[in-house]
Amino acid sequence: MRRFSTMRVAAVWAIFAACAALRADAPATKPAVPPPLTHYMGREIAQTMHFSGAEWLTRESREREEDCRTLLRELGLKPGMVVCDLGCGNGFYTLKMAQLVAPGGKVLAEEIQPEMLDMLAERAKEAKVTNVQPIVGTTVDPRLPEGKLDLILVVDVYHELDHPREMLAAIRKSLKADGRMALVEFRAEDPAVPIKPLHKMSKRQIMKEIPANGFKLVREFDGLPWQHLMFFQRDEAWKGN
Ligand SMILES: C[S@@+](CC[C@H](N)C(=O)[O-])C[C@H]1O[C@@H](n2cnc3c(N)ncnc32)[C@H](O)[C@@H]1O
Repeated sequence: MRRFSTMRVAAVWAIFAACAALRADAPATKPAVPPPLTHYMGREIAQTMHFSGAEWLTRESREREEDCRTLLRELGLKPGMVVCDLGCGNGFYTLKMAQLVAPGGKVLAEEIQPEMLDMLAERAKEAKVTNVQPIVGTTVDPRLPEGKLDLILVVDVYHELDHPREMLAAIRKSLKADGRMALVEFRAEDPAVPIKPLHKMSKRQIMKEIPANGFKLVREFDGLPWQHLMFFQRDEAWKGN
C-alpha cells in the first residue's frame, strides 16, 4: 500500500514536471513575429526606403512623371469615404486624398517609420488638412480597424513588404465587403521606366502573389506613364492557405 502511494506521488510529480516543461516551451501569449522574408514567390523583396530620402517623394517633377492627378481620378474617391494610404511616406497622396474625401471622410495614414509621419504632420498643418489620422504600424500589422475601409491605396510600397502574407491578410480584414485595395507599382515589363529593377513589379508577378492571398482583380487601369494601377477586392471564395 505504501509502495503504491509512493509510485502515485512520483507519477503526479512526473506529470507536473512534464507540464512545466511544456509551459516553458509554449509560445508567449503574444505570437512571435515570423522572420522577415528576403524573397517571396520567386521575387527578391526590396529594402525599405529610408525616411532620409523622403524628399524624392514630394519632388516637383513627380506629378508630370507619374501623372498623379489621373491616378487620383481613377481611385473614384468621394466625400465621406474612409480610406487608407498604406505606407504613406511623408504623405504625398495622403493630403490629396484627404481633400477628396472631405467633408465627412478621413484618411488613415499608415507607416512603419514614425519619422515619415512627423513630416506628414508638418505638411498637413501647413496645408490646414485635418481629416488625417496617423497610424504607426508594424511590418506584420498595419493596425487598421476591421471591415471599415472603402479603399486602401498602396503606392510603391508592396514590393518592400517583408511580411507580404501577414500584411495582405490584415488589409483583407480591414476592407468593407465591397472595399478595394488599389495597388500601384512601377512597371517591370517596361525598360523605359527609370526605376531600379528591385523596385518594379510585373503584372504577372502581382497576379502570382495577390490572388494567392485571397484577393481577386476587379479592375485595372493602364493609362499611367510609369505604373500599373490594379484594383483588388476580397475573394470570398478563397479558402486560405
Ligand atoms: C517608396 S515609399 C512610398 C511612399 C508613398 N506611398 C508615396 O508614394 O509617396 C515606401 C514606403 O513604404 C513604407 N513601408 C515599407 N514597409 C512597410 C510596411 N510593412 N508597412 C507600412 N509601410 C511600409 C516605407 O517606410 C516607405 O515610407
